Amino acid sequence: PARPLVDRYGRHVSYLRISVTDRCDFRCVYCMAEDMTFLPKRDVLSFEEIEAIAGAFIARGVTKIRLTGGEPLVRRDIMELVTTLGGQIGHGLEELTLTTNGSQLRKHARGLADAGVRRLNVSLDTLDSDRFRAITRRGRLEDVLDGIDAAQAAGLTIKINMVSMRGVNDDEIEPMMAWAHGRGMGLTLIEGMPLGEVGIDRVDSYLPLRELHDQLARRYTLSKLDKRTGGPARYVHVAETGGVLGFITPMSHNFCESCNRVRLTATGQLYLCLGQDDQVNLRDALRDGGPPALDAALDHAMLIKPKGHDFVIDRTRPEPALGRHMSVTGG
Ligand code: GTP
Ligand code: 5AD
Ligand code: SF4
Repeated sequence: PARPLVDRYGRHVSYLRISVTDRCDFRCVYCMAEDMTFLPKRDVLSFEEIEAIAGAFIARGVTKIRLTGGEPLVRRDIMELVTTLGGQIGHGLEELTLTTNGSQLRKHARGLADAGVRRLNVSLDTLDSDRFRAITRRGRLEDVLDGIDAAQAAGLTIKINMVSMRGVNDDEIEPMMAWAHGRGMGLTLIEGMPLGEVGIDRVDSYLPLRELHDQLARRYTLSKLDKRTGGPARYVHVAETGGVLGFITPMSHNFCESCNRVRLTATGQLYLCLGQDDQVNLRDALRDGGPPALDAALDHAMLIKPKGHDFVIDRTRPEPALGRHMSVTGG
């Protein structure tokens, strides 16, 4: 691209995460409050606006776009946006993906594949239906499993994201790995991050994945993989299962020095770090000044992208690093 997006620390931004809605049909305990107030629909970007912003990023060297939420597949007519953005693949865009809770996957799997999506990350923390209900507060495990079946039948490559919580689902890590790897899916474990209301529960359930990695390394043959997806996970190959296991460790090992991403919210705020409040209002730039103003806003964003997050787990200070919920940016 003519003017690549490079920040003050020399990091190239090549990955844009777009939250298409802050709404979700689940209320996962680590992501949302029980009763959430969602954004008024009129504040939400139209598909035309999202496409204009995505286009500006692609012109400046973004090669990977991931749609997130809330839950991206609950936004009305979402497949129209997926299809339009999918049309950019091969024209600067290399990959279009989604992170989804899987609840609506059954009906959208084929359409996603037809639009050019090749990989999906599905969030799933347990294979036990009661526990699933307790974590998501309102999801049905069956729907997600059906969605995964449909996505695999449509030829999509799936990675399962599991937020690993001590005393909640840490006894399921090995069974989840056997299940995922047995079906040809990757499994990535994520350390819970203190966004939104946290409280002592979240502090107590914090599970350092370094420890877990070392424990697993005693029982399995793990070999480090160089695989880079442009995401923050480090991957190992597990000889016994033949599958790939990922670790996302923002708490125990932060990976900010190689950060390559920014996040657009459903209302057009561009957050420059998952763990900081720095943001640029792209909706106003686009509405008030059109494409040149949007381009200038991207330059400004590169000047203010923070060096990294400063999440900490501290029993004496269980308040969140950020009051904003994970569902604002979709992780
Ligand atoms: P891949 O393309 O599969 O590598 O995806 P990804 O890991 O970039 O995306 P995914 O949506 O699966 O992200 C998994 C989770 O990792 C997110 O939901 C967050 O919880 C966490 N994560 C992703 N990016 C960042 C980041 O920049 N900082 C921090 N602290 N956590 C992140
Ligand atoms: N910490 C870590 N991961 C989280 N996710 C949601 N909230 C949190 C949190 N507080 C994960 C979801 C999903 C992805 C979008 O982010 O489980 O995999
Ligand atoms: Fe919805 Fe995902 Fe948040 Fe769960 S983690 S409430 S599925 S957006």
